[in-house]
Amino acid sequence: MFQSIIDADARRNLGAHYTSEENILKLIKPLFLDSLWAEFENILSNKNRLLEFHVKQRSLTFFDPACGCCNFLVITYRELRLLELAVLRAGRASCQQGLDIQTLINVDVDQFYGIEIEDFPAQIAQVALWLTDHQMNMKVSEEFGAYFARIPLKATPHIVCGNALQLDWADVLPAEKCSFILGNPPFLGKSNQSAAQKVDMQLVCRDIKNAGLLDFVLAWYVKAARYMDLCRSGDNRGEGAAPTIKAVFVSTNSITQGEQVGVL
Ligand SMILES: C[S@@+](CC[C@H](N)C(=O)[O-])C[C@H]1O[C@@H](n2cnc3c(N)ncnc32)[C@H](O)[C@@H]1O
Repeated sequence: MFQSIIDADARRNLGAHYTSEENILKLIKPLFLDSLWAEFENILSNKNRLLEFHVKQRSLTFFDPACGCCNFLVITYRELRLLELAVLRAGRASCQQGLDIQTLINVDVDQFYGIEIEDFPAQIAQVALWLTDHQMNMKVSEEFGAYFARIPLKATPHIVCGNALQLDWADVLPAEKCSFILGNPPFLGKSNQSAAQKVDMQLVCRDIKNAGLLDFVLAWYVKAARYMDLCRSGDNRGEGAAPTIKAVFVSTNSITQGEQVGVL
């Protein structure tokens, strides 16, 4: 809907393209989904470990700093809820009494964070996450034979309408609370960037020599790398330690070729 109502030039300039479910899954599976399923399958008959795993699912956060209508976050939320359903099914199998489903659904829309420059998709994004919540609640109701709804809505997705290259991402989500960064930020070669976009590039890449050669999407990489740098794991929290946040972006392969590589 959003794509079809905005002007084609504006759409090209903002990089406002819907990402297909197939492509989103290509990113989120290696990012976190495959390893969560593998972990779950290892512990499925251990009730205590299953409980811990369920708590961990609730603690994960997902941040898309160019979220559009939130298709990345919507698919991620749906997949996380499907995994939670599998956890509850396994819990039911190892439990003598029935489960009270009202108290057991943990995963919620407030684990999702996004930044979008356009007001309209930012609003759709919020509603899209609530609609997915409703669809998943209906699925839980069917499976457990007890009506489950979250009305009134208490949890809210954290979607900020603003310029991701000017905002401090830590104001949207403190780095120590972020688990994963994901998305499909706009890609625009150096000659297709507007004057305002060039200013944003300069702001983000001011300490990078020849930054004017870089594709617009690389500003998101630089911002993500700096944000990830705020949080490193282990005793050695210095340069050598691994960041605790993991990130994936859909991008044009031109950023791995030619003159941009050396600059970056
Ligand atoms: C490829 S789309 C994201 C699509 C989204 N992942 C989906 O599948 O629905 C890129 C988005 O980045 C937004 N955008 C462009 N420049 C931005 C900026 N400086 N800050 C935040 N968002 C921006 C565009 O409006 C567009 O919605």
